[in-house]
Amino acid sequence: MSGELRLGGLSARALARRFGTPLFVYDAGAARARYRALSAAFTRRRPLICYALKANPCRALAAVLAREGAGADIVSGGELERARRAGFKPQDIVFSGVGKTAEELRAGLRAGLRAFNVESAEELAALAREAGRLGRRAPLAVRLNPDVDPRTHPHITTGRADNKFGVEYKEALTLYRRASRDRRLRVVGLQCHIGSQITELSPYRRAAASIARALDALEGMGLELEHVDVGGGLGITYKDEKPLPLDAFARIWEDAFASRPGLRLLLEPGRYLVADAGVLLTRVLYRKKTSKRRFVVVDAAMTDLPRPALYGAWHPVTPAAPRRGVKTRVDVVGPVCESGDFLARERLLAPVAPGDILAVGKAGAYGFAMSSQYNSRPRAAEVLVDGGRARLARRRETLKALWAGEL
Ligand code: LLP
Repeated sequence: MSGELRLGGLSARALARRFGTPLFVYDAGAARARYRALSAAFTRRRPLICYALKANPCRALAAVLAREGAGADIVSGGELERARRAGFKPQDIVFSGVGKTAEELRAGLRAGLRAFNVESAEELAALAREAGRLGRRAPLAVRLNPDVDPRTHPHITTGRADNKFGVEYKEALTLYRRASRDRRLRVVGLQCHIGSQITELSPYRRAAASIARALDALEGMGLELEHVDVGGGLGITYKDEKPLPLDAFARIWEDAFASRPGLRLLLEPGRYLVADAGVLLTRVLYRKKTSKRRFVVVDAAMTDLPRPALYGAWHPVTPAAPRRGVKTRVDVVGPVCESGDFLARERLLAPVAPGDILAVGKAGAYGFAMSSQYNSRPRAAEVLVDGGRARLARRRETLKALWAGEL
């Protein structure tokens, strides 16, 4: 049939038949292309692109980026372990997050990470304590909260003074002063991440100004940094958002640090690298109608892709093999017992029938990563397509795995 959806050169329907549904399919080539495009946007310095593993920790996909030369941004001991298994070099890994436990700090110290991104005075003290115990010097960057509004969804805004993230300018300088006098600590960088799915340049410009001001102040204190880590957050097009112009994005940072050629630039993109590389394939189970609405019930749910339920996010939904006929407005919903369980609402869709495969697009970031077993639903399988070949990256969870840890 013509017009049939292909993923990385392979038929979506054939993949669904072979591996079952719900199924995440990742296109390695698409992730690689994003990595290269971002890297190439920087013409005056080569940034270290630390993939934010939280977006999609699938080892096979992360390994594609590690092989391209990416570093990793992690936020837990679990991600540390995953990053290492995917092949990221410890020297290229940065550890973010407001709540690192003593155990996680120790694991990071033993691994020899590039930097801990410190988010509070108490965390700084804990890091020094654990480093002292292990007899190592902890490399650190303070996460600056520049109090800028990234103009994105409130749940994914991180750089405002009313967010829990980072420390404000004055306190950041205090922490740097303290750290520079502590032999258990080694100041290596400064970090700042203002939010996610950012589609405008102005918040980045404001953050860059804040960072430059902090760097001046640190130099005044006699502190020379090895790197400045400007976080991630680059927005993509889900529906009609204009994507961030990469060249202009790169210019902001190259200009901001032009007078500091020795400073390594780090980025922490997640979504930008992998969102478009992933599709969630799901099978139509039933159609039904109320006096108000038409529903298409599918076998994927908010447990597989919680973004619509959590943020009211819009993801494209298309039949893998479109049928002829009049499009109708439908809600595409999952089997979970909540009205919040929808993948699309009031969406104009070509006719579908039970057994048809639908593709939910832009599902490569914060899809499987945020999936759950709610309603005792085993989590989906994941497939990586590369060079025209598909291989299973993660088996579909078994029912047994649902209660394996129960006593
Ligand atoms: N660095 C830090 C410190 C972060 O907190 C995040 C994301 C990133 C980097 C990567 O941001 P990205 O480039 O992917 O925007 N679940 C939400 C997104 C949460 C983002 C959390 N932090 C969603 O589905 O939209």
